[in-house]
Amino acid sequence: MSDRPSVLFVCLGNICRSPLAEAALRAAAAERGIAVDVDSAGTGPWHVGDPPDRRAQATAARYGIDISASRGRQVDPRDFNRFMHIVAMDRDNLDTLLRMQPAGATAKVSLLLDHVPGRVGEAIADPYYGGLEGFETAWADVSAGARGLLAILSGNQ
Ligand code: 4NP
Repeated sequence: MSDRPSVLFVCLGNICRSPLAEAALRAAAAERGIAVDVDSAGTGPWHVGDPPDRRAQATAARYGIDISASRGRQVDPRDFNRFMHIVAMDRDNLDTLLRMQPAGATAKVSLLLDHVPGRVGEAIADPYYGGLEGFETAWADVSAGARGLLAILSGNQ
């Protein structure tokens, strides 16, 4: 594995929250000139090969980011030795990751909002069954998480 930090964001479907988290971290890292490898995946199988939800695409586009080329994939046990950090959007997905983590794997598994002071233990709420405003909230929350995570990756914490 290279020294460059690497992060895999994980939600349930890999079409709403984790592609937004991936976009937010890429954008925050580029702004600060920090090199980081970023990817996203889902714990569920339903959207493998699918582009992000249209509402997630529209939300990212409002912030100048095109996520239309992203395709859903499922977390793979090998990810636990490929990525330095595997970051879950909520407690259910964190629990799934901890159950599937191979013995001796090197990735640090965490909850995204645990990297944001004052929001430890909170979830990125699943916006899938709601309206566009839920995607706006998800964007704000994953952006806060990305900034917190970046402070760790860049050695400021
Ligand atoms: P995500 O949202 O986990 O943020 O990608 C969901 C997308 C799809 C489903 C659930 C959540 N689904 O049940 O298909």
